Amino acid sequence: MTYTCILVETVGDGPRKTGLIRLNRPKALNALCDPLMDELGEALAAFDADAGIGCIVLTGSEKAFCAGADIPSIKDLDFLSAHQGGLVSKNWEHVLKVKKPVLAAVAGYALGGGCELAMMCDTIYAAESAKFGQPEIKIGVIPGAGGTQRLPRWVGKAKAMDLLLTARMMDAQEALQAGLVARVFPTEGFLDEVLKVAELLNAQSAPALALMKEMVNQAFETPLTQGVQAERLAFHAMFGTHDQREGMTAFLEKRAPQWKHG
Ligand code: HXC
Repeated sequence: MTYTCILVETVGDGPRKTGLIRLNRPKALNALCDPLMDELGEALAAFDADAGIGCIVLTGSEKAFCAGADIPSIKDLDFLSAHQGGLVSKNWEHVLKVKKPVLAAVAGYALGGGCELAMMCDTIYAAESAKFGQPEIKIGVIPGAGGTQRLPRWVGKAKAMDLLLTARMMDAQEALQAGLVARVFPTEGFLDEVLKVAELLNAQSAPALALMKEMVNQAFETPLTQGVQAERLAFHAMFGTHDQREGMTAFLEKRAPQWKHG
């Protein structure tokens, strides 16, 4: 598959590698247009289906993770063409379907749909240069890919309202304090640090990784009792895997586990 709006490569030395996807529309600060979203969906699905890939890292450039929806392509839509044409629903949510962990690696701007795309990932790592925001109000709209729903869940209502209503940008340290990002790394060498985290994930058992991320994401969808019940069922299901037996046996034998990823 030849891509025009993203760059795709496989990184790492271990038996399972990292699928690295870079948004690559530098002239538009990686703004999200239909071709980019279609390509992103294809690349994510291909890595998800590849047993040699442990996890996926989604990143942009030094200047911008992504400056949001491609404004020229949506500027002239009317209600019906936006609604019936499936703006957002058509091809924006591929990342939510991925079973493997998806790590967002954000340097520079993550604005509007860019911030929303990062929040669809399982966790976000930021370079010191990162700037997060939902500036839609400045162009006369509101977020359309989860910004009003996911941002309050990540950072709480007060800060989400502040960011959404004022359109101000939040730097990496503030994002760390607010809980939007897991860790902040120096801008120089930032992606290498995230790829090191990815390597740790690649060395884990695949079914445990998949169920772990599914359960944590479920915590944002279900009431506590229901979520805890789902977790218990998933935990019990792990006793049907080779890797559970191997992991516990290896611990007791004081050796490294040999996963079969099943
Ligand atoms: C298309 C964009 C773009 C965007 C930047 N560019 N953002 N093109 N869509 N969202 C283009 C500019 O037009 C410009 O092209 C080039 O990228 C560089 O941008 P500059 O503005 O010259 O750079 P700078 O001064 O450094 O400012 C960077 C910036 C600013 C702060 C990120 O570009 C900006 O505010 N962008 C818009 C951010 C935004 O409003 N995002 C939300 C979009 S709505 P030229 O050709 O002039 O050099 C959204 C809703 C999603 O995301 C909901 C789901 C559909």
